[in-house]
Amino acid sequence: MKISLDQFVERRKELMAKMLPNSIAIIPSASMKQRNSDVEYAFRQDSNFYYLTGFNEPDAVLLLMPGRLAGESVLFCRKRDKLMEIWNGYRSGPEGVVADYAMDEGHCIDEVDELLPELLNGMSRIYYSIGQDEALDQQVRQWLNSIRSKVRQGAVAPSELVMLDQLLNEMRLIKTDAEKEMMRQAGDISAQGHVKAMQLCKPGMMEYQLEAEILHHFTMQGCRQPAYSSIVGGGENACVLHYIENDKTLNDGDLVLIDAGCELDHYAGDITRTFPVNGRFSEEQKALYQLVLDAQKACIAIAKPGTLWEAVHEESVKVLTQGLIDLGLLTGSLEDEITAGGYRDFYMHRIGHWLGMDVHDVGDYKVDGEWRPLQPGMVMTVEPGLYIAPDNEAVDARWRGIGIRIEDDVLITETGCEILTASVPKEIEEIEALMAS
Ligand code: GLY
Ligand code: MN
Ligand code: MN
Repeated sequence: MKISLDQFVERRKELMAKMLPNSIAIIPSASMKQRNSDVEYAFRQDSNFYYLTGFNEPDAVLLLMPGRLAGESVLFCRKRDKLMEIWNGYRSGPEGVVADYAMDEGHCIDEVDELLPELLNGMSRIYYSIGQDEALDQQVRQWLNSIRSKVRQGAVAPSELVMLDQLLNEMRLIKTDAEKEMMRQAGDISAQGHVKAMQLCKPGMMEYQLEAEILHHFTMQGCRQPAYSSIVGGGENACVLHYIENDKTLNDGDLVLIDAGCELDHYAGDITRTFPVNGRFSEEQKALYQLVLDAQKACIAIAKPGTLWEAVHEESVKVLTQGLIDLGLLTGSLEDEITAGGYRDFYMHRIGHWLGMDVHDVGDYKVDGEWRPLQPGMVMTVEPGLYIAPDNEAVDARWRGIGIRIEDDVLITETGCEILTASVPKEIEEIEALMAS
């Protein structure tokens, strides 16, 4: 299932209903990025633009003008071009975006500099992502200057620039039923990729070979790109939080940490699992793993409407710190270790982030200076971890070089939460059983 055309139309309506009168929103698409010589990176549409259009071509600009009699949704896009289409594939063109994307008007992108100042003339304010993209900032300035140069002919330039993201981020933060379904599927495809990695892992394999198995599964399910660069870190590589080289051998006796998620029609999955390369946890690995798992489950247990965002993080700090004290890796009292931040040597990141079209999705974590309570429809990750640096001489040598993170995607519901990524095991016995089978 994909997001239907009706829903893109509905989103535009909802955004326009939030805009102040006599205003215009400008939302540009992503552009192609060069990789080297004649090669370009795989195209990924801008999330805000896709959220409002479902249109997956570069070089386009969406305008929303609530109340405009001639049409509220206007899309500038590439014109049809027989030769370019023979080389690079189909283009919708200005007629196509009206017919297939329910736009009120379509124009060729080549006309944007001429037509946009005319449309801005007389408007009070412009909503756009100010300061996010230098090219857009410059374009807006040029369009404004073009109107200002005609004030003696009666032109009136908009006097207010407003951050569009405030309105759009809040919409994207609360998922609709169709989005929840997309994210269930993204969660499940991601989970099955991890199951496959557990089933196939053997000492002597290369990290990139496990990565390849996961990406193969994603692609076979229609996810041509992962939601982010996969992390496959064997042994102490797991202690490098953003390790993406994935080019070392997986050794007998080590754990491997895999952080990988698919992108399904622009919606992300984001899962981390850590498991023994040879299928059996050692005593030290088991002790630390169980602690991270206990922390993760304690956090998931309080992930429900009304719980403050920060309270989930605090819960992870409390459980992990107590566990580190019990294992002798920290020596102070629970209170002192939390206040002094002793746990940060082992747990140096936050509990998680919003998840949606972007893996680190949009949405404020504080509102009016206060941590935000969780609400039904939000999707977040819960991903505590412990990383014992290989050169940490303050701890017994047997702990060093172990890195563990366990990450699931969680949808806040009316009564609690739904784990979208539950179909990949995380209990010690379940993992060992799966790897033995
Ligand atoms: N994979 C990125 C993250 O977990 O935040
Ligand atoms: Mn994450
Ligand atoms: Mn992750």
